[in-house]
Amino acid sequence: MNPFLTIATRAAQNAGKVIVRGLNKLESLDVKTKGRNDYVSEIDLMAESVILRTIQDAYPEHGILAEESGKSGDSEYQWIIDPLDGTTNYLHGFPVFAVSIALMHKNELKVAVIYDPMRDEMFTAANGEGAFLNQHRIRVSGQRNMKFALIGTGFPFRNYDNLDVYLAMFRSILPKVSGIRRPGAAALDLAYLAAGRLDGFWEIGLSVWDIAAGVLIIKEAGGVVSDFANQDNFLESGNIVAGSAEIHQELLNHMKI
Ligand code: IPD
Ligand code: CA
Ligand code: CA
Repeated sequence: MNPFLTIATRAAQNAGKVIVRGLNKLESLDVKTKGRNDYVSEIDLMAESVILRTIQDAYPEHGILAEESGKSGDSEYQWIIDPLDGTTNYLHGFPVFAVSIALMHKNELKVAVIYDPMRDEMFTAANGEGAFLNQHRIRVSGQRNMKFALIGTGFPFRNYDNLDVYLAMFRSILPKVSGIRRPGAAALDLAYLAAGRLDGFWEIGLSVWDIAAGVLIIKEAGGVVSDFANQDNFLESGNIVAGSAEIHQELLNHMKI
């Protein structure tokens, strides 16, 4: 296996153990509010420090951009980490959350893992080497028809500035598709898209750690990712639309609002 991927996988598994153990003491967890509807628990922090330890033991000279501890180090290599994507779900015991880890080298995504510790599903990709779920090759769905497509999304729930824009998109997409799902962990939504469980996905204003790993896994699974203007600015803007080539194109038509 790609050595970077070996370390990313090990880091995600270590964090997964912390996350699953924490489920036994949900009621007594120390939870702080970062902003409106934005919580961080001691588990997010512990999972992140376990990931950082695993990565830094192997690559002490690499840089880090992690949701809870921010940016550190100065290197051509940067690890982009969301230690627990889907914290709101987690705090409710709603079993949809994941660990997301990506490695960027000179603005190019090199490896990615998204790990669902509840189902022991490890989604991985390395640049040019394909995308995998528990070491089995995955591909985006072959769905071409919006009428039969299952679409994933995320609602704005912290910053309501874009609520009207979002609802207009939702209003125009809903009648055209088979269904829309909002599971609550963007990284896992992207992994599911790569595995063909969703046919398309869009969300406004995500953070780079929500999407970096998912973007590489989708591309390596044969999918298309862009921002709402069909450009590559999604890591910066957090506005993302993804799918198989056909469904991506169809979804883009609903982003012009
Ligand atoms: C959140 C989840 C959610 C998305 C939010 C993210 P967090 O991440 O991915 O699905 O809608 O925008 O911030 O805060 O649970 O890591
Ligand atoms: Ca997240
Ligand atoms: Ca998080």
